[in-house]
Amino acid sequence: MLSESPIGIYDSGVGGLSVLRAIGDALPRESLLYVADSAHVPYGEKTRDYVERRACVLADYFVSRGAKAMVVACNTATAAAIAQLRQRHPGLAIIGVEPAIKPAAHLTHSGVVGVFATTGTLASPKFAALVRREAPEVRILFKPCPEWVRLVEQGVLDGPEAEAAVRAPVSELREAGADVLVLGCTHFPFLRDAIQAAAGPGVPLLEIGVPVARRLRHQLQERGLLRADGPGQLRLETSGAADALARQASRLLGRPLHAEILAERWR
Ligand code: DGL
Repeated sequence: MLSESPIGIYDSGVGGLSVLRAIGDALPRESLLYVADSAHVPYGEKTRDYVERRACVLADYFVSRGAKAMVVACNTATAAAIAQLRQRHPGLAIIGVEPAIKPAAHLTHSGVVGVFATTGTLASPKFAALVRREAPEVRILFKPCPEWVRLVEQGVLDGPEAEAAVRAPVSELREAGADVLVLGCTHFPFLRDAIQAAAGPGVPLLEIGVPVARRLRHQLQERGLLRADGPGQLRLETSGAADALARQASRLLGRPLHAEILAERWR
């Protein structure tokens, strides 16, 4: 493993690009290999076994590409599979993501926090343990929002359809007293404007891109794997349609990008 090796990052689709964006800002010298597992989206409505199997395939893929670290840029996959992945590849730095419950517990004045995530994340023992550990005194209200994942995958980020989809879930948690909202799925930062408009201007919407990038930097530093020269390259791959990913990623990241299809055995 070399400092020049890429960092593998993946999600069920384009959601993990919200994490990739933060990693690219924090670590501009690193080469990033992003896989959108679009043939299998949404993870949030699949069984834990299914999500775990895909996590193992993609971890094996990153290892086969000589990756020096792997970021599971998906709350659902982290909840389902992170322990398994670390067992499978003990030498690899593996960074997962989880809903920002701890900062939310510090920020709330009302003592009520709202969490939006997938069905899989919210039903996981890992999420229950996170809440018990980090927010024992706080009332946590949560809402699965599979529809929001679908909208982001379709590129519907604003306008009447996005506004209508976020209005009811956001109002429900706000009316129940939540004064901090956690975006517990990496797709949701792409709906931030619509969610903020529904929640009201002062309401914090917490996401995890920046702290994950910080954790990644720290792990690479500890292993002596931070890249000294650069700039890093970005490569996009997908188990779905390459042209669709290129189009979506170009829009979400605001620059023209190209994408490739993953070799058959990893799809
Ligand atoms: N972006 C993912 C997450 O953070 C998964 C969304 C999905 O595929 O359902 O949970």
